[in-house]
Amino acid sequence: MAACVSATNLAAPSAGGVRWRHATCPASVSNAHKAIRVSTAFNVRGFRLRNEFCARAPNSEYFPSWTQPRATTADHWISAEDDAPLPPIDATESASSAAEWADREEDVKAATTRMRQRLLVFRNAVKTAARSVKSPQLQEEVHLELENIVAGSNVHDSRDLSERSFLYAFAGMVKQHSLESVAGVGSFSDVYRSSAGGIMKCSLPFPGCMGGVPIGDGLEVVTLEARALAQLPQHPNVTRMEGAYFDHRRNEGMLVLEEAGESLQVLREQGLVSPSQVRRHVHAVLQALAHVHQNGVTHRDIKAGNIVVSDAGKATLVDFGSARVQGVVDLYPHSREYGTPGYQAPEALLGTVQEDHYSQVDMFSLGCTAFFLACGQEFLGAYEMNANRATRTRRPADGGEAEEKAHEPSQALVVRWLMQYTDFELDDDEIDIFNEEMNANNEPLPIPGSDSISINEHLDEMLGERQPPEFISLIKSLLKKNPCERPTAVQALAHPCFSGISGVSQNSGV
Ligand SMILES: Nc1ncnc2c1ncn2[C@@H]1O[C@H](COP(=O)(O)OP(=O)(O)OP(=O)(O)O)[C@@H](O)[C@H]1O
Ligand SMILES: [Mg+2]
Repeated sequence: MAACVSATNLAAPSAGGVRWRHATCPASVSNAHKAIRVSTAFNVRGFRLRNEFCARAPNSEYFPSWTQPRATTADHWISAEDDAPLPPIDATESASSAAEWADREEDVKAATTRMRQRLLVFRNAVKTAARSVKSPQLQEEVHLELENIVAGSNVHDSRDLSERSFLYAFAGMVKQHSLESVAGVGSFSDVYRSSAGGIMKCSLPFPGCMGGVPIGDGLEVVTLEARALAQLPQHPNVTRMEGAYFDHRRNEGMLVLEEAGESLQVLREQGLVSPSQVRRHVHAVLQALAHVHQNGVTHRDIKAGNIVVSDAGKATLVDFGSARVQGVVDLYPHSREYGTPGYQAPEALLGTVQEDHYSQVDMFSLGCTAFFLACGQEFLGAYEMNANRATRTRRPADGGEAEEKAHEPSQALVVRWLMQYTDFELDDDEIDIFNEEMNANNEPLPIPGSDSISINEHLDEMLGERQPPEFISLIKSLLKKNPCERPTAVQALAHPCFSGISGVSQNSGV
């Protein structure tokens, strides 16, 4: 359903931060009926800066602000506070957050119901496989086929295998991994913990059936994820895939992944992350990004919900369902079709991503993620405007009209939000794109007012008491409008804010 958004709902960012006035979400977005207000009030914890962060020398042309040595003898970062958990995010502060949290409970209930249905399918598969591959000769044939076709990839596609061989492989997997509990619910998948200690990511057949034709959107997404993961050499901070099963007859895909911990979004909301852990996790994600970018993969959906953290404190990047893999046909050739509103880079929002700097879209999203982790609010207010988490275009597999375009109005809102800052300017071509493709209501573009502030001022104001200045300077560089001015993952890893963090990927807990 097309959605409409009142454009008069933005007040200019002021010294008090950015404020929404009666931002009305589109009807297709859950919580749409609610008027939304972002409170800029937050709990300042009075952190101060530790000397070691101030003493680092600048070392890169990409971070010009470092060339200004800080005379901060009075600033001391108190280690105890740096390591103390940040306060939980109070869902009651925002009506839409509260509603989203309630939705989450509903989501888990629904995923639990689907888990029981899937367990029945598993049981049937084991029985049928046992019946159809009875004799040693048939078993031999099946083994040979699996060896030839699946080889070392561990990717089982029902279109490449005989029905019997697919079933045999699938039954072998489900005998080992029974579904035990819900680990997470995504837009396109139910994610379960398995009895064998692994994770099983099962696609959702959204939008199910249209006109009696099964539409494999969820299946497409996990297929893409499997391709990306199969291509990537293993890395300690990147989710590890043990196997993939695509059953086109049942329109379901299933990934078997290594269990990597709890969602960082959830940990941050529950007040289980300290300021120093924020930097460690960002560092770990940068290691993951340096690895995936070097291997021709752009993640395209970096956010706290796609980072999981183990009990030992190691962060792992998950959810490669929107990834762009060099040499593989792009499921989302138009950049507006992927990612999460509020986390997308400006060039992705406007559809002007350049091939040469493609992977830099991940760096902007990481800047948004770092901001959220540091202060518990969304940099671009996505919490409120994107109450539903189904953010990508849900395009029928048969190439028909998209059923739902919930992302469009959110994206226009994000651009409007950014334009309130004094230093975020669109050039003429970008204004044309915005007006022609995003400004459905033909509302005037926002003009920064006399009390408006720059993005950097906003970051200083929101993060200044919570993180050392070097880390804030890294976030500032990640949130640059121009992708060429953002550091690459490799460059960001050399930032002095990480000087206290060892270069290894296995971050220990703090
Ligand atoms: N390897 C893993 N270990 C532990 N938990 C995981 C793992 N992979 C995913 N999860 C959990 O499942 C949740 C959903 O997974 P994922 O993001 O991959 O699904 P999705 O359907 O692609 O999500 P969305 O499109 O909404 O971002 C994650 O937020 C996380 O909590
Ligand atoms: Mg996800």
